Amino acid sequence: MDFAAKVSDIPDWGKKVVTVNSQEILLVKTKGNIYACETECPHQGAPLAGALVKEEGHISCQRHGYRFNLKTGACKEFPEYTLKVYPVEVAGDDVLVGLE
Ligand code: FES
Repeated sequence: MDFAAKVSDIPDWGKKVVTVNSQEILLVKTKGNIYACETECPHQGAPLAGALVKEEGHISCQRHGYRFNLKTGACKEFPEYTLKVYPVEVAGDDVLVGLE
C-alpha cells in the first residue's frame, strides 16, 4: 500500500486527484468513507474529477451519467462498463492505496 493523501485533504462528498507511483488516481469520500479509482470514465474517457458524488459509495460521470459503485467498480445500468477501483486503507490520518 502506498501513501496517497491525508484523510483531511479530501472533502466529504468530494474528490481529489493524486499521483501515486507516478499514476494518477481519484480519491472520493462519501459519508466519511474513502474510495480510490481511475481518473477516466471507462465509457468514453471523461475525466472523473468533474463527476458527481451524490450517493454513498457511488460516482456519476458528468458526461452521460453512468453511475459506478466505488467498491466494486460495477455500473448497474451498463454492466459492460467497469470502473477500475483500488483497495484503500486508512492509517491514522493517512490514506493508503494499493495499486497493482
Ligand atoms: S464518458 Fe462517462 S458516462 Fe460516458
